[in-house]
Amino acid sequence: MSTSMRVVELVRFGDADTAFAPRELPRPTPGPGQLLVRVEATSVNPLDLQTRRGDYRDEVALPAVIGNDVSGVVVGTGPGADDFRPGDEVWYLAPVFTGQGTYAEFHVVDQAVVARKPAGLSHVEAAGLALVGMTAWEGLVERAGLRVGERVLVHGGAGGVGSVAVQLASALGAEVVTTARARDHEFVTGLGADHTIDFSAGDYVPQVRALGAVDVVLDTVGGDTLSRSPEILADRGRVVSIVDIADPQNLLAAWGVNATYHFVFVSPGRAKLDALGRLVDQGKLRPVIGAVLPLADVAQAHTLLEGGPTTGETRRRPRGKIAVAVRR
Ligand SMILES: NC(=O)c1ccc[n+]([C@@H]2O[C@H](COP(=O)([O-])OP(=O)(O)OC[C@H]3O[C@@H](n4cnc5c(N)ncnc54)[C@H](OP(=O)(O)O)[C@@H]3O)[C@@H](O)[C@H]2O)c1
Repeated sequence: MSTSMRVVELVRFGDADTAFAPRELPRPTPGPGQLLVRVEATSVNPLDLQTRRGDYRDEVALPAVIGNDVSGVVVGTGPGADDFRPGDEVWYLAPVFTGQGTYAEFHVVDQAVVARKPAGLSHVEAAGLALVGMTAWEGLVERAGLRVGERVLVHGGAGGVGSVAVQLASALGAEVVTTARARDHEFVTGLGADHTIDFSAGDYVPQVRALGAVDVVLDTVGGDTLSRSPEILADRGRVVSIVDIADPQNLLAAWGVNATYHFVFVSPGRAKLDALGRLVDQGKLRPVIGAVLPLADVAQAHTLLEGGPTTGETRRRPRGKIAVAVRR
C-alpha cells in the first residue's frame, strides 16, 4: 500500500495560475481521538481565494495545503477515536488556519468535528454544503435565533451561503426576502424566497420597507449593509454579519431599534452538520453545485469562483458551489 498522497500546495501568494503546485507528501497519521479520512471531494470558498491572495499571510506559512470542506471515507482511526469505523462515510469542516487543509487525498481530523454524511448526498454535494451550510446555520439559528413567522432579509441569496440561508430560513417557517440579480430571481424563488429584490437595479432599502420591517438581516455581502440595517429592522431586530468589513461603520441608528449585531466566523462541529443532515433527509435542503473539477485543476476552480459579477446576460461564473472531486 502506498504511504504517500497527492496534494495541491499553495506555493506563492497571488494569482491562481502561479499560486499552486502538485506534490506528493507522506500520508498523515491519526493521533489520539483522530481519524484518517480519504478525501473524496472538497470545495472552494471565498476564504480560499482570500488565503491564496495573501490576505491571511500571517496565519498561513508557505508552502501550505489549504481548503476546508471535506466529504470522504474513514480509512484509519487513532487511539480512542471510537465514534467511527473504517468505511464510514463522513463530512466536516476542517478547522480554519490549523493543520493541513483539504486539497489532498488524505486528511487527519479530530473525530469531535466529524459527522456521518447524509445518505442522500453524493460526496461532491456534501463537500459543497459543509462550510456554507454551517455558516448559515450558525448565523440564522444559533446566533440570530430566527423563529417561525419572522421576516428575514438574506443579502446575496444566490451565493454559496445565501442559497443555503434562503432554504434554511424557509424551512424554519420564516418569511424570506432576498437580494439577487434579476436573472437569479427564479432560482432563489425555487429555493424558498417569498420576495426578491434586484440589488443591481436600485436601492434595496425602500423595497424592503414596502414589505414591512424585518426581524433578522443576514449579511453575506458587506459594504454598508450593517449601518443601513436599522432602516429596515423591526424593534429588537438582529443583524448577522459573516463578512470582513474594511470601512468603519456608523451604527448609531441601531439604538433606535434596540438592534443586536452578531459577527460570525464559522466554527467546525458535529452538531451543526447533523442538524443540516436532518434537513437534507427531510428534503428541505439541497446543496447547489455549479461545477466539479478534479484536484489537479484547483487553480481553475479558483479562477471560476473569482469570475465574480458578470455583465449583461453572459454568466462566466457557474451558479452555486464549485466542488473539487479529489479521488480519481
Ligand atoms: N464569517 C464566516 O464564517 C464566513 C463563512 C462563509 C463565507 N464568508 C464570507 O461571506 C461572503 C459570501 O460567501 P459566499 O460563499 O456566499 O460567496 P459567493 O458564492 O461569492 O456569493 C456572494 C453572492 O453575493 C451576491 N452579491 C454581490 N454583491 C451583492 C450586493 N450588493 N447585494 C446582494 N448580493 C450581492 C453575488 O451575486 P453575483 O455573483 O451575481 O455578483 C453572489 O451571489 C464572502 O465574503 C465570504 O468570505 C464568511
